[in-house]
Formats: sequence, structure tokens, C-alpha cells
Amino acid sequence: MDIYQALQERRSVRKYKTDPVSDQRIKAVLEAARIAPSWKNKQCWSFIIVRDPERKKQLAASLPESNPAYKSISQTAPVVIVLCADTRASGDQDGKDYYMLDAGLAMQQLMLAAIAEGLGTCWVGLFDEAAARSVCAVPPEYRVVAMTPLGVPETVPSPRPRKELQEFVYAEKWEQPISF
Ligand SMILES: Cc1cc2nc3c(=O)[nH]c(=O)nc-3n(C[C@H](O)[C@H](O)[C@H](O)COP(=O)(O)O)c2cc1C
Repeated sequence: MDIYQALQERRSVRKYKTDPVSDQRIKAVLEAARIAPSWKNKQCWSFIIVRDPERKKQLAASLPESNPAYKSISQTAPVVIVLCADTRASGDQDGKDYYMLDAGLAMQQLMLAAIAEGLGTCWVGLFDEAAARSVCAVPPEYRVVAMTPLGVPETVPSPRPRKELQEFVYAEKWEQPISF
């Protein structure tokens, strides 16, 4: 699949079929994460693959029920991937904590590869970290950054609105309009 097609087709999918996802496809999306760029190539990320229905329910309990991804984690998606980052294995510069960026880049590569595999994902950031940590026994040195359901989409949402390029791209200087 062409990268631009994958970029255009990616959505936050919150409705999944219960069809299982093969180990091969799970490995394929993790391979995409594995080759992501990172601070000094430190690769601070870890991924926990959760398939046990009971553990998925426990993970879902770390989300507020109002979280639109709640049902996909608790019931429908056959796989939930929990993204963790070792804060000691990445850097910070001028107060910018790069572990979040490193982990996010790896997750984004995973999410794009999922499109090529015919699978949906949804970055889930609104959850109780302590509760998720406890469910997956994540050691204290690691932050639980995010999780995503992974599965065959039941419904693919329409594109959400985006700003126009002119609203955030400048030429040479701040707020100087660019013309293409
Ligand atoms: C940092 C971050 C946190 C997010 N947290 C959640 C979440 O907790 N629950 C959810 O349903 N979607 C969550 N999303 C998905 C966004 O709502 C979604 O990306 C945005 O509305 C744009 O829609 P699209 O991904 O379909 O283009 C999160 C996305 C990001 C990048």
C-alpha cells in the first residue's frame, strides 16, 4: 500500500469486529514500530499485547466509561496494545521529554502499518495510568503512554476536520503567509 493512501485512510476506529487477528499481522505492525526513529536510537518503547478477554476488561476499567474507545477495549477489539516508555532510555532537552515523542513515533508507525494490514487502531490516551500499570504489571521506571485497540474495523469513521495548511504553515517567518 502506498504511504499516502495509508495516511489518508487512517482513522481512529472505535467499532471493531470480534474476528481474531493472526500473530503474523500483529508481528507485522510491531515490526513497523520496531524500525521507528528515536532519541539517540535508544528505542525506549515497550509494547504489551493483550488478548485475554478478562485482562482487556480490566484494562478498560482504567478508562472512564465516557471514553469513546471504552467499548472497543472492553469488548469488541480482539487485541489491545499497551504502549510503555522507559523514561531513562530517552533524553530531555530544554524541558522537552523525548520519551513521549519516541513512543509516539513508534505507535504512529504501528498505526499506519495496521492500515496496510486491513486493521484499525485508535490512540487512547485518556486512562488512569496507575490502574493500567497494575493490570499489566508495568514496572515503575516505565510510563504507560497509551493503548490502542487492534482489529478488523466494523465501522470506519468519516474523516475528522483538519486545519488548512495556511493556518499553520508559514514562509520564512512566524505568521508570514505561504503561497504554493
Ligand atoms: C494523544 C492522543 C490521545 C487520544 N486519546 C483518545 C482517547 O482517550 N479516546 C479516544 O477515543 N480517542 C483518543 N484519541 C483519538 C483522537 O480523538 C483522534 O485522533 C482525533 O479526533 C482525530 O480523528 P482521527 O484519528 O480519526 O483522524 C487520542 C489521540 C491522541 C493523538
